[in-house]
Amino acid sequence: MHTRIDNLEARSIEVSEYEAFYRTTCTAFGEEPKPTAMEAEKPSVEFDRTLAVFDHGLPVATTAMLTMDVVVPGGHRLPLGGLSWVGTMPGYTRRGLLTGLVQAQLQDMLQREEPVGGLWASESTIYGRFGFGVATWSIGLTLPRAHARLRLNTDSNTDSNPHSNADRSVGLLTTESALDILPPLYDRLARGDVGSLGRNEGWWRVHLADIEEHRDGGGPLYHAVHRDAQGNLDGYVSYRITVKWEKGYPGNSLDVVQLVAGSLDTACALWRHCFDLSLIETITASSRPVDEPLRWMIHDARRLQITRLSDALWLRILDTVRCLEARSYATSGRLVLEVADSFGGFARGRYLLEADSGRAQVSRTRRSPDLRLDVATLSSAYLGGVSFSALAAAGRLEEVTSGAATRADALFAVPRAPYCSTDF
Ligand SMILES: CC(C)(COP(=O)(O)OP(=O)(O)OC[C@H]1O[C@@H](n2cnc3c(N)ncnc32)[C@H](O)[C@@H]1OP(=O)(O)O)[C@@H](O)C(=O)NCCC(=O)NCCS
Repeated sequence: MHTRIDNLEARSIEVSEYEAFYRTTCTAFGEEPKPTAMEAEKPSVEFDRTLAVFDHGLPVATTAMLTMDVVVPGGHRLPLGGLSWVGTMPGYTRRGLLTGLVQAQLQDMLQREEPVGGLWASESTIYGRFGFGVATWSIGLTLPRAHARLRLNTDSNTDSNPHSNADRSVGLLTTESALDILPPLYDRLARGDVGSLGRNEGWWRVHLADIEEHRDGGGPLYHAVHRDAQGNLDGYVSYRITVKWEKGYPGNSLDVVQLVAGSLDTACALWRHCFDLSLIETITASSRPVDEPLRWMIHDARRLQITRLSDALWLRILDTVRCLEARSYATSGRLVLEVADSFGGFARGRYLLEADSGRAQVSRTRRSPDLRLDVATLSSAYLGGVSFSALAAAGRLEEVTSGAATRADALFAVPRAPYCSTDF
């Protein structure tokens, strides 16, 4: 890629320029560039999809796209360009460098026939102007270990002594084996979730490198896998422990970073593994689905406190027809959407959506619209993570035909809240 932004050269970086690129992004974040983190993050970079603005030969504003896909309602994996490595050096901000870079990256996505973009935002004020909307949310949980008791007596949960740790269906992996075992497990078990993203080897290498800078004061990442009665792997939990001793008492907390299970029994066994570990006072989970089943799996649901609600995956529809036709629909019906797109006009237009037997045909139309909304709002509603009625109540869309928001809710409804656990 090669262009000019604010009279400066913008282009993809060479592999030899990675260190300068990395340092620029760190400086934009106010972080100290560390050689270990720099090396650990390198495998995730697709150099031909980087785009940086250069001044006097040095990168002063950075972006990089990751080639991914996202699971949409109905299970289809839609190609997605993941925007990452976004940073502008102090001294170069607020002169349109990020704006120019995002514009060029979106154009490039269209050429690559990626109909949707995605990102995780450092601040929720940055990306709405570029047409991105929050598509999945996640919650942070905390549960005192003393109240962590599952309701179900599954095979692996029959022991009444909470200190016995008798569950032999769950075992720890070595860090070396995690790279072989976890990626296929994730692909097999988590890719049914609407909102889940494909993870390439680079992503896994960065995640499993478990660099100190990403630990937030906690210990190393442990990975425990579950085997079913036939000995087949059917779930895993990754967690880290923060050690704390006060007045001679153990007060460790265990943070569940990821838990993926192929069945309820497996989910119980993996949670129980966390609940049964020695010296733990508090169980936390930093990023779980908003409809997390654990609340319904334990005896004392009130003790499971939600500590945080945060935006997770942001989406940006580029090709409206392709995106709307890729997902499934819960009811049959017709809807005319008028979509505004003030950043590049990529998604702009009036579209007739005709859904029947779960699928929809979408075409441009001259009919009068039922709903008027901008592309960021449509991108938020796309996976079913928020209803059109809620968006209407917030003034985020205009209901031109009375009752159209309710009709749209029925069409776009999904059984489970969309969930994305792949931060990038
Ligand atoms: C976010 C960041 C990349 C913006 O870069 P930039 O080159 O200054 O962006 P632009 O000049 O293109 O700004 C475009 C618009 O976004 C606005 N904007 C930029 N950053 C913003 C922020 N953090 N919050 C709110 N608005 C912001 C600008 O005011 C400008 O608005 P305008 O068009 O109405 O004038 C830069 O501030 C930065 O490096 N921040 C720290 C690192 C970071 O958070 N990166 C994002 C990772 S997801």
